[in-house]
Formats: sequence, C-alpha cells, structure tokens
Amino acid sequence: MCSIIGYKGRQSAAPIIVDSLKRMEYRGYDSVGVAMIKDGSLMVRKGTGKVAEVNQNLGISDMSGLIGIGHTRWATHGGVTDSNAHPHSACKNNIAVVHNGIIENYKELKEELIAQGHVFSSETDSEVIAHLLEIHHGSDVKKTVIQTCKRLRGSYAFVAAFQDGTIAGARYEEPLIIGVGNDGYFVSSDVLGFLQHTDKAIFLDNCDIAVIDNTKMEIFDFDGVPVARPITQVAWELGEADKGKYAQYTLKEINDQRLTIANAARQDKSAMAKFCEILGNAKSVYITGSGTSYHSALIFKQILARFAKVRAETVMSSEAQDGLAAIDSDSVVIAISQSGETADVLAAIKTARAQGAKVLAIVNVTTSSLARSSDCFLSTNCGPEIGVAATKSFTGQLALAYAVTDRLAGGALKAGEQAEFVAAAEKVISMCQPAIEKMAGELSDVNDIYLLGRSAHYPIALEGALKLKELAYVHAEGVAAGELKHGPLALMEKNTLVVMLSPDDATHSDSISNAHEIKARGATVIGISDAKDEIYDHFIEIPHMEQEAFYPIVEVIPLQMLAYYLALAKNADPDYPRNLAKSVTVK
Ligand code: G6P
Repeated sequence: MCSIIGYKGRQSAAPIIVDSLKRMEYRGYDSVGVAMIKDGSLMVRKGTGKVAEVNQNLGISDMSGLIGIGHTRWATHGGVTDSNAHPHSACKNNIAVVHNGIIENYKELKEELIAQGHVFSSETDSEVIAHLLEIHHGSDVKKTVIQTCKRLRGSYAFVAAFQDGTIAGARYEEPLIIGVGNDGYFVSSDVLGFLQHTDKAIFLDNCDIAVIDNTKMEIFDFDGVPVARPITQVAWELGEADKGKYAQYTLKEINDQRLTIANAARQDKSAMAKFCEILGNAKSVYITGSGTSYHSALIFKQILARFAKVRAETVMSSEAQDGLAAIDSDSVVIAISQSGETADVLAAIKTARAQGAKVLAIVNVTTSSLARSSDCFLSTNCGPEIGVAATKSFTGQLALAYAVTDRLAGGALKAGEQAEFVAAAEKVISMCQPAIEKMAGELSDVNDIYLLGRSAHYPIALEGALKLKELAYVHAEGVAAGELKHGPLALMEKNTLVVMLSPDDATHSDSISNAHEIKARGATVIGISDAKDEIYDHFIEIPHMEQEAFYPIVEVIPLQMLAYYLALAKNADPDYPRNLAKSVTVK
C-alpha cells in the first residue's frame, strides 16, 4: 500500500526522500508528495503519477531543507487526484502528515471537525489526522500525537512534520521503522526506505510514538510512558534492489530464480529443526496466505499429506474468520507471505493467537511484522522482490515447502539444496524464453485464457491465471482439469485459448484426454510438458523430473514468462500493474 518516509538530519532532505520513495514505490504508485520544513515554514509539493515523473514536473528534489516527509499513494478513500495526494495539512498550514492505513471513523471525525469550522481540501480519510493534530497542537508534540491517536480507529502508521522542525511518527497495526543514521533519523514504512543510508533499525511496536526533535529521538507508548526498543542491525543485502542488466524488475526476478530457489532450499538448520518440531507436534495444521502465497499453501497441503501424512487445512487469509473458526491451542497455523505485512495475513494470525494456536511463518522479508510475531519462521531467502507480481518468492515458498515436508517425511523427497528441482528450474528459464517471447507476440490480441491442470498442477493453473491477470490484464481462469466437463467445457469454442499443464506424471493421460475434448470444440491448446503430443497447437517443453512432486516449481516459470511477455506485447508495465500494490496492508 502507501509508503511513508520522514527524514531529519544534517543532509539535504528532499533528494533523500525522493530516492527513498523510488525504492518503496512498489508499495503504491498513483501519486507522490513531499513536505519540507525550512526556517519555520512548511512547503508541500505533490501530484499524481510515479515518483520520477512527479519529481521531474514539480522539482521535488530541489526543495531545500534538512527536515521533510514523503509519501507514495495507493488510493483507498478518494480518487487519484493532486489534492488527494499526501502530505495533508490542516487549516493553519503548520503541520503536514503522511499516512498509511485506513481511518475507519474518518466520517464522524470529519463531520465533527467541519462543525468546528475546519475546512477540508481532500476526499481522503487521512486528512482528519492533520486537523486533529492541529486541534491538539501545543508545546508538547508527544501529547499532541497521543491525543490525536486516541481519536483514531482503524489502522495507521503516520509521520507528521511540525513547523518547529519536530518530526513524529505513530504506529497502530501498520509497520513503522526508525532508521538510525550517523547524521540523522529516518522514519519509514519499510527498511528499504533508509537501508541505503543506515543498517540500524528500530522496529516500533503497535501503539508506539516516536518523536524526533532537535536534540534526540524518544519513543513512548500511547499513555506517554517512555519505552525502550532495541536497535536491530538489518542485513545490507536487503537493500540490493536494483534491476541490474534487466529492463524490468519482473524480468530480473524471473531470472533470479536460477539462484534463489537454491537459496530457499538451503536453510538454517536450527530454525528448520524448530519449525518442524512445532509442526510435527501439532494436532491440527492450518496453512494461510493471500494471492500467490495462498497458491503455495495449496501445494504445501498436498505434499504434506502425500509424503509426511500430515493433514492440513488451507485457509485464504481474507476468509480466516470462518476458515479458522475451529482453531484451538493444539493447532498450528503456517502463515505464508512474501512481505510479511499483508493485512489479511496478520489478521488471520491474530485470530489464531487469540485461540492459543502457535504461529509458524514462511516469509521473504525477515524483518516483517509476521516474522517478528511468529513462534518460528523460515526465510525464502530470495532478496528483495520489487515487481508487484510475485515470482521468485513463490518458487522460494515452494522450495521451502518441499524442504519442510522432506524433513517430516524422513528424507523421502530429497529436497535439499542439491534437489533435482534446483537444476531443472535453472534450465527451464533458458529452455523456454525464446519460444514464449515469440508466442506472446503472436497472442497479443488474446483476452481470455483458460489454464487447466490436475492434482499439483491445479494450484499452478490458478497461479498462472493470477500472473496473466496481474501482468497482462487478460481474463484468465485456472480450472481443475477434471472439472472441465462439469461446466467450463461450455465455454470452449473455436479459438478459445487453453494452456494445458500436462507433465509426464500420473495426471498425464487424463490431461491429454481433456486436451482432446477441448480440441474437439475448436479450442487452441498450448501444452506445457516434458512429453510432446500432437494434440498441442503450441508446445512449451520443460525438463523431465524423476520426482514428479517437483513439477509445479518448474512448470510455473514458463507461465510467469508468458504473463511477462504478454504484458510487454500489450504495452502494459509489468513492474507496476494498474490498481495493484505489492504490499497490501489494508483489509
Ligand atoms: C498482493 C501482491 C501479490 C501477493 C499478495 C500477497 O496482492 O500483489 O503478488 O501475492 O499481495 O502478498 P504477500 O506479501 O503476503 O505474499
């Protein structure tokens, strides 16, 4: 969702803030704004568009001053307009605020404030924070912020800049992190916002307020009591988020899988032992996640049952209220999330915790709220994933699911860092790229695609469909191939485009029969398999796998590539799909 950054130090703030916003742009990218405090006055520049574009138009990085705050927006309340862009200030124009989250009681607060004579200049929920800060503003910034927070319901992380040069941040159910630099402080929604300047981070807890004045930085709880939070040293590698030789992050991250899958399979032994011990002792197991991470939960469930004889339920995090209704203190929830900040996932584990269940996490961002609040977590070790559509984090999650299952199954899967899928995934990238690029060019007019697969290939059909929707704006549906004749076959007609996932495993012959049924209705079939068949109109060859449970991690890569190249063929920006954000921190 939105990203926020504040800086107060000895360097020129605006270029630092613009650079931070570029690094965090994956969180939201419909508008940008910066407020600077200089010589006791407040200046704001903001507008719609991406960071580089708005900066060029408005000259944000030329703003002078040593104190500032900035924001990239992903619209929730109010359209994508200049006036809805953050920062927001109130009537006296002496405080500016940037916010991430949703203020649920903003309507009643707004009515109350208007009745008191306040004039609003945006349609956002966030603007009420600026007016509340103004009302409560006194000589003590801490009190101002506490009184404001006490009026807010919902979820928020906000940073406010005051005319006297003080910066304050507050956190409730949204992440907020302090960066401790040699010559200043940062306040950000992501360590990527300051990691290029310092690796020293303080993760604020829920209901923490940080106040940075001219002499010090202090942290208080919502009752104004000082609290001590440790300084954590964050791994510098987290900050290595450039595109390298690639035109887009998405293409880079697809290619990164040559290394990242092996990195995920290579796990810290003690964390793995602890994770498996907790999992092995559970009476009931639930696996939860959102979007792509939910698709890896589906595969995890299948292999746990098949190889480790562990029965697990999968629960979409956004449906956890019902899905976790029967959870108890003998249960374990495995939460899977690249970012570790997805609001629905965090809400699901809160529900689980309230019933006394243990929480295991599979995350990519090891400093995330999910990782820090879990009983034990394993890292997918993929490095930063910036492209909004998850690619390398998904295969990392699968590699980890294989590794955990392998351990619980006494090594039956052979899923360590030398696993068969590591080499196969590397090979498939080079094997498929030219054919897929060419095919995507030929298919640029397509508007509907059906992806069919049985058993372990069905979650991959869902994941492939999600990639096609996100990146190429194609209506795509993942269908369990066996369900074809129970409905979807009615949609098959001349030129309907179908991707059939039919590797040479136990599902192969049934899938080929389905391909015949589809072809008989005139559809065009793209086969993804290690076994060529004359039924396919187009064929994407993948490597043969001795362990058939590993096909999913390999066959998803051509689908990621198809979605990427189709996005290019349709002139869409694969890194920043319209209306989406990478880290969905609101429900
Ligand atoms: C967003 C992203 C998806 C991602 C999902 C879950 O919708 O656009 O790519 O799969 O969130 O994210 P998580 O960080 O929890 O894996």
